Amino acid sequence: MFAQAVASRGRRVAVAVPAPAARTLLGIRTMTTNNKTTTPIAKPIQDYTKYLTAVSLARQPSAIRALQPIMAMPGMISLAGGLPNPATFPIANVELTLKNGAKISMGDTMTRAALQYGPTPGHPDLVAFFEKLQARVHGTPYANKQLERKILVGNGSQDLLAKAINALVAPGDTLLVESPCYVGTLAILKPMVKAQGVKLAEVPTDAHGLIPDALDKILADWPATSPKPRVLYTVPTGGNPTGNMAPIERRRAIYALAQKHDLVMLEDDPYYYLQFALPPTDAATQQLTPPADQTTDVALGDRYASALVPSYTSLDTDARVIRFESLSKVISAGLRVGLCTGPAPLVDRIALDIQATSLQPTGLSQAVILALAQHSWHGVPAGFLAHAARVAAFYRSRRDALLKAMSAARLVEDGLVEMSVPQAGMFLWLKLKTVDDASALVKGYATDRKVLLLPGIEFLPNAQPGEPCAFVRATYSTATDEQMQEGMKRLRECIDLAMRDQQKQKQQAPKK
Ligand SMILES: Cc1ncc(COP(=O)(O)O)c(C=O)c1O
Repeated sequence: MFAQAVASRGRRVAVAVPAPAARTLLGIRTMTTNNKTTTPIAKPIQDYTKYLTAVSLARQPSAIRALQPIMAMPGMISLAGGLPNPATFPIANVELTLKNGAKISMGDTMTRAALQYGPTPGHPDLVAFFEKLQARVHGTPYANKQLERKILVGNGSQDLLAKAINALVAPGDTLLVESPCYVGTLAILKPMVKAQGVKLAEVPTDAHGLIPDALDKILADWPATSPKPRVLYTVPTGGNPTGNMAPIERRRAIYALAQKHDLVMLEDDPYYYLQFALPPTDAATQQLTPPADQTTDVALGDRYASALVPSYTSLDTDARVIRFESLSKVISAGLRVGLCTGPAPLVDRIALDIQATSLQPTGLSQAVILALAQHSWHGVPAGFLAHAARVAAFYRSRRDALLKAMSAARLVEDGLVEMSVPQAGMFLWLKLKTVDDASALVKGYATDRKVLLLPGIEFLPNAQPGEPCAFVRATYSTATDEQMQEGMKRLRECIDLAMRDQQKQKQQAPKK
């Protein structure tokens, strides 16, 4: 390895790069034609330093946490760590009762692990289960087989995402974000825009997610005087707020652009397992909670896995994607269990942030998921996938109920609303075609008539307060059929009233 000083965003940082011979060993191919070196099709990232912020690069492993594996060695007398004595903990065992009546007793070993400090990346058995799941669903696509892919379990995917952004976005940087964009990500970014001069370059989307030509143009036209963005953020499946899903051709095109422009991608995918991928007639998905005596439906899990759209992670030959997933939408939101998967040099940086902030994911929450994995899913990914297939079928039926309610109120039929039908997730993104300002409608008419929607302006990365926006987000997750029918009837009344008042105002406005 050569130690080399590279200019990295105004800083000079010493990094190790492989010597030419070692590059071949690492699987990094270069092709030579006419004495010119051309770029290979797969372009594994060789140096992650240029993507990382100075703060992230300065993080050092915790000395105490580094001792953990040594402390765990059989026969070791440890006077080094700071573990509290578990004899003082009052909880002896944790028992779960599932909705189908099954009981899972965690037992001594798992209860002890759940209550004690544990490894930063997560309980090793849980990480191993997720590695099996990731290999089953996303494969192991890195062209550079020596590069390790790592998984971190986290306290929800939001926290992992925030830590990734902290590791990758420095003051003054520009981040590429899809527009509209998940409001939780904007909550992380907007203070950075205000206080640190971070800029958000909006990449437009349509019913199929990010638009490749638009992304290419933004980057091709990037002014030479300002540093090009290096990171792209997207929610590719059942987007929040749009409900849109990028089909495989789109994903391939966007990934090719990430290669062309040397981007790291943040694939924020909490709705991946809410894809309406199986036909509604699939009998195995009809029952949300199968009886306790029914064994894990591996066939259903396999069927669902085969029907899922491939993720960016599964296309990631270059190791340039960090994937964020959540168990919030399929197991429990309150347990706060999420995971991120990606190339070790980037994931390690997120792990160091965890070491310095929350130390580790919550032990009891991990133990609950691990208990489900071992007992309900029999340790096989297909067990989890079968559960996810049933949850997705549930959300499909909720989506259909909302579409039916909209139809009864003739919102689309009468030309008042435009939307695309979501193929995943729990959101509908509605354009109110005849209303000047959807935010005013939500805050005024809709609040008065007790129907709540989210104003679309909240999801526009660079919108100014008070800017008119025609969109609202509706959720079909928790409302009953009756509430949906009544809610859409009220929305129709609000639109009719807003149109009538707009008309009046226009008639009363002085003629120029
Ligand atoms: C797009 C997106 N990313 C991340 C999250 C956060 O999920 P978690 O509960 O895992 O933190 C959400 C939650 O709604 C979301 O919609």
